[in-house]
Amino acid sequence: MNSKKISFQGVSKSFPLKDTDFVALSEVSLDIADREFVTVVGPSGCGKSTLMGMAAGLIDPGTGQILIDGRPVAGPGPDRGVIFQQYALFPWLTVRKNVEFGLKLSAISPEERRGRAQRAIDLVGLADFADALPKTLSGGMKQRCAIARAYAVNPEVLLMDEPFGALDALTRVQLQDQLLRTWSQERRTVMFITHDVDEAVYLANRVVVMAARPGRIYKVIDVDLPYPRTEEIRLSPEFGRIRNEVWHSVYHQAPAAPAA
Ligand SMILES: Nc1ncnc2c1ncn2[C@@H]1O[C@H](COP(=O)(O)OP(=O)(O)O)[C@@H](O)[C@H]1O
Ligand SMILES: [Mg+2]
Repeated sequence: MNSKKISFQGVSKSFPLKDTDFVALSEVSLDIADREFVTVVGPSGCGKSTLMGMAAGLIDPGTGQILIDGRPVAGPGPDRGVIFQQYALFPWLTVRKNVEFGLKLSAISPEERRGRAQRAIDLVGLADFADALPKTLSGGMKQRCAIARAYAVNPEVLLMDEPFGALDALTRVQLQDQLLRTWSQERRTVMFITHDVDEAVYLANRVVVMAARPGRIYKVIDVDLPYPRTEEIRLSPEFGRIRNEVWHSVYHQAPAAPAA
């Protein structure tokens, strides 16, 4: 893995706050390789969502550069699928129609659209509920639907912001395994934000730990564990060692050096 799929180069971002500027991100530099799975953890407010939102093209760029395939981000695009914690489904559309909706902008025939939607629905295990409305689905099923909508567009990059944060532990583990299966089959590049240290280690090639005030990269930790990740790996001493290192980096951060 050496080609840079996503590259953050000295990215800073401020928001106007009363009569000063609030620095949400300061000099963030990070390269994510093609087909790499990177998770991002850090205290609330350290700028995780801001960083990902800028890569998605949903938040105005600050200073520095964000490149996808070597090109600066200029707004959202079909090369990047974005999944948030809130399912953001259209309540009046069925699962199938919700998944097809994401393909409306692609220049493909209705048959092709239907076929791609069906494959994505099958992949996330929602085939039996394709014609159900969101209100009849559990939280986990709604999130599968949102994931299917992103998959259907077949983006090379998946940007996921605490996608499993609102789900119960069992559903969460199931969706983690399903996500890893599709990632290893289709080898997309994934940037996945979570506040769950176990989840961060279980999924990733590398865990990026961020710190707040100002938002910045605190530490990058390699997860040198094989795929497929299994329960045996999750319960292994090596997993525990890495989890402890990530935990320590998140919850016992050294304070930022005082501004000169
Ligand atoms: N649109 C905005 N206007 C002002 N402040 C913002 C805005 N978006 C985010 N922030 C601030 O920037 C910081 C980082 O936010 P965010 O990226 O959502 O953090 P995280 O996702 O790590 O919890 C927070 O302190 C937040 O209040
Ligand atoms: Mg956030």
